[in-house]
Amino acid sequence: MSLLRLRGVTRTVELPDAEPLHILRGIDLEVEVGDHLSVVGRSGSGKSTLLNLLGLLDVPTSGSLEFDGVPLDKLSVAERDRRRGADIGFIFQQFNLLGGRTALENVMTPLLYASGKQFWRRERLAAEMLDRVGLSGRLASMPEQLSGGEQQRVAIARALVRGPRLILADEPTGALDVDTGASVMKLLDDVAEASGAALITITHDPNVAALARRHYRLDRGVLTEVDVSRVLTLAQQAGSL
Ligand SMILES: Nc1ncnc2c1ncn2[C@@H]1O[C@H](COP(=O)(O)OP(=O)(O)OP(=O)(O)O)[C@@H](O)[C@H]1O
Ligand SMILES: [Mg+2]
Repeated sequence: MSLLRLRGVTRTVELPDAEPLHILRGIDLEVEVGDHLSVVGRSGSGKSTLLNLLGLLDVPTSGSLEFDGVPLDKLSVAERDRRRGADIGFIFQQFNLLGGRTALENVMTPLLYASGKQFWRRERLAAEMLDRVGLSGRLASMPEQLSGGEQQRVAIARALVRGPRLILADEPTGALDVDTGASVMKLLDDVAEASGAALITITHDPNVAALARRHYRLDRGVLTEVDVSRVLTLAQQAGSL
Protein backbone atom coordinates (compact mmCIF):
# COMPACT_ATOMS: atom_id res chain seq x y z
CA MET A 1 0.00 0.00 0.00
CA SER A 2 1.25 3.49 -0.83
CA LEU A 3 2.05 5.92 1.93
CA LEU A 4 0.66 8.74 -0.21
CA ARG A 5 -1.63 8.46 -3.21
CA LEU A 6 -2.80 11.51 -5.13
CA ARG A 7 -5.25 11.32 -8.01
CA GLY A 8 -6.19 14.39 -10.02
CA VAL A 9 -5.40 16.72 -7.14
CA THR A 10 -6.00 20.41 -7.76
CA ARG A 11 -5.63 23.46 -5.56
CA THR A 12 -7.36 26.63 -6.62
CA VAL A 13 -7.64 29.90 -4.72
CA GLU A 14 -10.37 32.44 -5.30
CA LEU A 15 -9.04 35.94 -5.70
CA PRO A 16 -11.10 39.09 -5.19
CA ASP A 17 -11.67 40.96 -8.48
CA ALA A 18 -9.75 38.39 -10.54
CA GLU A 19 -10.00 34.97 -12.13
CA PRO A 20 -9.45 32.03 -9.72
CA LEU A 21 -5.81 31.03 -9.46
CA HIS A 22 -5.21 27.37 -10.43
CA ILE A 23 -2.06 26.68 -8.45
CA LEU A 24 -2.03 22.87 -8.85
CA ARG A 25 -3.61 21.13 -11.82
CA GLY A 26 -4.40 17.41 -11.77
CA ILE A 27 -1.52 16.03 -9.72
CA ASP A 28 -1.08 12.22 -9.79
CA LEU A 29 1.57 10.87 -7.45
CA GLU A 30 2.31 7.74 -5.46
CA VAL A 31 4.89 7.61 -2.71
CA GLU A 32 5.97 4.34 -1.11
CA VAL A 33 7.65 3.78 2.23
CA GLY A 34 11.40 4.37 1.75
CA ASP A 35 10.99 6.37 -1.48
CA HIS A 36 13.21 9.38 -2.10
CA LEU A 37 11.71 11.96 -4.46
CA SER A 38 12.80 15.39 -5.57
CA VAL A 39 10.59 18.11 -7.00
CA VAL A 40 12.08 21.02 -8.92
CA GLY A 41 10.27 23.99 -10.35
CA ARG A 42 10.45 27.72 -10.81
CA SER A 43 9.45 30.13 -8.11
CA GLY A 44 5.66 30.31 -8.07
CA SER A 45 5.15 26.93 -9.78
CA GLY A 46 3.28 25.59 -6.74
CA LYS A 47 5.98 23.64 -4.88
CA SER A 48 5.17 24.82 -1.37
CA THR A 49 1.45 24.49 -2.07
CA LEU A 50 2.06 20.85 -3.04
CA LEU A 51 4.20 20.26 0.04
CA ASN A 52 1.45 21.62 2.27
CA LEU A 53 -0.99 19.12 0.76
CA LEU A 54 1.46 16.22 1.13
CA GLY A 55 2.02 17.27 4.75
CA LEU A 56 -1.72 17.29 5.53
CA LEU A 57 -1.56 21.01 6.28
CA ASP A 58 -4.02 21.84 3.51
CA VAL A 59 -6.73 20.02 1.56
CA PRO A 60 -7.15 19.69 -2.22
CA THR A 61 -9.82 21.73 -4.00
CA SER A 62 -10.66 18.59 -6.01
CA GLY A 63 -9.24 15.14 -6.60
CA SER A 64 -8.31 12.55 -3.98
CA LEU A 65 -5.46 12.29 -1.54
CA GLU A 66 -4.92 9.16 0.55
CA PHE A 67 -2.47 8.97 3.41
CA ASP A 68 -1.59 5.41 4.40
CA GLY A 69 -4.64 4.11 2.57
CA VAL A 70 -7.07 6.48 4.26
CA PRO A 71 -8.76 9.15 2.09
CA LEU A 72 -8.11 12.59 3.52
CA ASP A 73 -11.79 13.50 3.46
CA LYS A 74 -12.49 10.57 5.83
CA LEU A 75 -10.25 12.07 8.51
CA SER A 76 -11.45 14.62 11.03
CA VAL A 77 -9.27 17.69 11.53
CA ALA A 78 -8.11 16.28 14.88
CA GLU A 79 -7.20 12.94 13.31
CA ARG A 80 -5.33 14.70 10.52
CA ASP A 81 -3.37 16.73 13.10
CA ARG A 82 -2.57 13.59 15.06
CA ARG A 83 -1.31 11.77 11.97
CA ARG A 84 0.76 14.74 10.91
CA GLY A 85 2.41 14.93 14.34
CA ALA A 86 3.14 11.22 14.54
CA ASP A 87 3.98 10.39 10.92
CA ILE A 88 5.34 13.49 9.18
CA GLY A 89 8.51 15.51 9.79
CA PHE A 90 9.07 18.92 8.19
CA ILE A 91 12.35 20.65 7.32
CA PHE A 92 12.37 24.24 6.05
CA GLN A 93 14.86 26.54 4.38
CA GLN A 94 15.04 28.86 7.39
CA PHE A 95 15.40 26.05 9.97
CA ASN A 96 12.54 27.53 12.10
CA LEU A 97 14.20 26.64 15.42
CA LEU A 98 12.85 28.18 18.61
CA GLY A 99 15.15 30.98 19.77
CA GLY A 100 16.13 31.03 23.44
CA ARG A 101 15.79 27.24 23.63
CA THR A 102 18.73 24.85 23.53
CA ALA A 103 19.32 22.39 20.71
CA LEU A 104 18.11 19.62 23.04
CA GLU A 105 14.91 21.52 23.92
CA ASN A 106 14.24 22.21 20.24
CA VAL A 107 14.53 18.53 19.36
CA MET A 108 12.36 17.55 22.35
CA THR A 109 9.51 19.83 21.22
CA PRO A 110 7.67 17.33 18.95
CA LEU A 111 7.84 14.74 21.75
CA LEU A 112 5.82 16.98 24.07
CA TYR A 113 2.81 15.98 21.95
CA ALA A 114 3.72 12.29 21.92
CA SER A 115 2.19 9.78 24.26
CA GLY A 116 3.52 6.94 26.40
CA LYS A 117 7.14 5.91 26.12
CA GLN A 118 8.04 8.61 23.58
CA PHE A 119 6.88 11.29 26.00
CA TRP A 120 8.59 9.87 29.09
CA ARG A 121 11.83 9.21 27.26
CA ARG A 122 11.80 12.51 25.39
CA GLU A 123 15.08 13.83 26.71
CA ARG A 124 16.98 10.67 25.93
CA LEU A 125 15.39 10.28 22.48
CA ALA A 126 16.26 13.89 21.62
CA ALA A 127 19.85 13.44 22.81
CA GLU A 128 20.20 10.23 20.76
CA MET A 129 18.85 11.98 17.66
CA LEU A 130 21.28 14.88 18.10
CA ASP A 131 24.06 12.33 18.41
CA ARG A 132 22.97 10.79 15.09
CA VAL A 133 23.31 14.15 13.35
CA GLY A 134 26.78 14.66 14.87
CA LEU A 135 25.85 17.24 17.50
CA SER A 136 26.23 15.29 20.73
CA GLY A 137 28.60 17.98 21.99
CA ARG A 138 26.12 20.83 21.39
CA LEU A 139 23.02 19.80 23.33
CA ALA A 140 23.03 22.97 25.44
CA SER A 141 23.82 25.39 22.59
CA MET A 142 21.26 28.00 21.57
CA PRO A 143 20.38 28.22 17.83
CA GLU A 144 22.09 31.59 17.56
CA GLN A 145 25.34 29.99 18.75
CA LEU A 146 25.23 27.42 15.94
CA SER A 147 26.28 27.75 12.31
CA GLY A 148 23.65 27.48 9.57
CA GLY A 149 24.65 23.89 8.79
CA GLU A 150 24.50 22.98 12.49
CA GLN A 151 21.08 24.62 12.85
CA GLN A 152 19.81 22.58 9.92
CA ARG A 153 21.18 19.44 11.60
CA VAL A 154 19.16 20.32 14.71
CA ALA A 155 16.11 20.83 12.48
CA ILE A 156 16.70 17.41 10.91
CA ALA A 157 16.97 15.83 14.37
CA ARG A 158 13.72 17.56 15.36
CA ALA A 159 11.96 16.35 12.18
CA LEU A 160 13.06 12.76 12.77
CA VAL A 161 12.79 12.37 16.53
CA ARG A 162 9.27 10.88 16.50
CA GLY A 163 10.25 8.39 13.80
CA PRO A 164 8.05 9.83 11.02
CA ARG A 165 7.21 7.71 7.98
CA LEU A 166 7.37 10.74 5.69
CA ILE A 167 9.91 13.59 5.72
CA LEU A 168 9.08 16.73 3.73
CA ALA A 169 11.93 19.15 3.04
CA ASP A 170 11.27 22.55 1.42
CA GLU A 171 14.56 23.99 0.09
CA PRO A 172 16.55 22.36 2.93
CA THR A 173 19.87 23.63 1.59
CA GLY A 174 18.61 27.03 0.40
CA ALA A 175 20.28 28.95 3.22
CA LEU A 176 23.55 26.99 3.18
CA ASP A 177 26.73 27.23 1.13
CA VAL A 178 27.33 24.49 -1.45
CA ASP A 179 29.60 22.26 0.65
CA THR A 180 27.53 22.55 3.83
CA GLY A 181 24.38 21.94 1.80
CA ALA A 182 25.86 18.79 0.29
CA SER A 183 26.85 17.38 3.69
CA VAL A 184 23.45 18.24 5.19
CA MET A 185 21.68 16.51 2.26
CA LYS A 186 23.88 13.44 2.64
CA LEU A 187 23.00 13.32 6.33
CA LEU A 188 19.29 13.76 5.64
CA ASP A 189 19.42 10.99 3.06
CA ASP A 190 21.27 8.68 5.46
CA VAL A 191 18.98 9.22 8.45
CA ALA A 192 15.86 8.93 6.28
CA GLU A 193 17.19 5.70 4.81
CA ALA A 194 18.18 4.28 8.20
CA SER A 195 14.73 5.01 9.62
CA GLY A 196 12.91 3.66 6.55
CA ALA A 197 11.07 6.97 6.03
CA ALA A 198 10.06 8.35 2.63
CA LEU A 199 11.81 11.63 1.81
CA ILE A 200 10.43 14.30 -0.50
CA THR A 201 12.78 17.18 -1.20
CA ILE A 202 11.73 20.37 -2.92
CA THR A 203 14.67 22.29 -4.27
CA HIS A 204 15.98 24.74 -6.84
CA ASP A 205 19.36 23.04 -6.72
CA PRO A 206 19.82 20.33 -9.40
CA ASN A 207 22.67 18.77 -7.46
CA VAL A 208 20.38 18.29 -4.49
CA ALA A 209 17.58 17.03 -6.76
CA ALA A 210 19.93 14.54 -8.39
CA LEU A 211 20.49 12.80 -5.03
CA ALA A 212 16.90 11.54 -5.04
CA ARG A 213 15.92 8.25 -6.64
CA ARG A 214 12.89 9.61 -8.48
CA HIS A 215 12.69 13.08 -9.96
CA TYR A 216 9.74 15.31 -10.70
CA ARG A 217 9.29 18.72 -12.22
CA LEU A 218 6.47 21.08 -11.35
CA ASP A 219 5.65 23.53 -14.12
CA ARG A 220 2.73 25.95 -13.58
CA GLY A 221 0.98 23.47 -11.37
CA VAL A 222 1.55 20.38 -13.54
CA LEU A 223 3.73 17.62 -12.09
CA THR A 224 5.70 15.32 -14.39
CA GLU A 225 8.30 12.67 -13.67
CA VAL A 226 11.64 13.40 -15.34
CA ASP A 227 14.86 11.54 -15.91
CA VAL A 228 17.83 12.58 -13.77
CA SER A 229 19.74 13.72 -16.87
CA ARG A 230 16.80 16.02 -17.61
CA VAL A 231 17.13 17.55 -14.12
CA LEU A 232 20.73 18.44 -14.81
CA THR A 233 20.00 19.72 -18.33
CA LEU A 234 17.19 21.92 -17.03
CA ALA A 235 19.64 23.45 -14.59
CA GLN A 236 22.02 24.44 -17.35
CA GLN A 237 19.29 26.03 -19.45
CA ALA A 238 18.95 29.70 -18.68
CA GLY A 239 20.68 29.09 -15.36
CA SER A 240 17.41 28.40 -13.60
CA LEU A 241 14.84 25.71 -13.10
N1 LIG B 1 -3.38 31.41 -0.29
C1 LIG B 1 -2.98 31.95 -1.45
N2 LIG B 1 -3.67 32.99 -2.00
C2 LIG B 1 -3.31 33.51 -3.17
N3 LIG B 1 -2.27 33.08 -3.90
C3 LIG B 1 -1.53 32.06 -3.42
C4 LIG B 1 -1.85 31.45 -2.17
N4 LIG B 1 -0.95 30.46 -1.96
C5 LIG B 1 -0.11 30.48 -3.02
N5 LIG B 1 -0.45 31.43 -3.90
C6 LIG B 1 0.18 31.71 -5.21
O1 LIG B 1 0.34 30.47 -5.88
C7 LIG B 1 1.57 30.40 -6.58
C8 LIG B 1 2.36 29.21 -6.09
O2 LIG B 1 2.82 29.45 -4.76
P1 LIG B 1 3.89 28.50 -4.03
O3 LIG B 1 4.21 29.13 -2.72
O4 LIG B 1 3.34 27.12 -4.00
O5 LIG B 1 5.12 28.58 -5.02
P2 LIG B 1 6.58 27.93 -4.93
O6 LIG B 1 6.75 27.05 -6.12
O7 LIG B 1 6.75 27.30 -3.59
O8 LIG B 1 7.52 29.21 -5.08
P3 LIG B 1 8.95 29.53 -4.38
O9 LIG B 1 9.97 28.72 -5.14
O10 LIG B 1 9.12 30.98 -4.62
O11 LIG B 1 8.86 29.18 -2.93
C9 LIG B 1 2.24 31.75 -6.33
O12 LIG B 1 1.97 32.57 -7.44
C10 LIG B 1 1.57 32.27 -5.07
O13 LIG B 1 1.57 33.66 -5.04
MG1 LIG C 1 8.01 27.74 -1.94
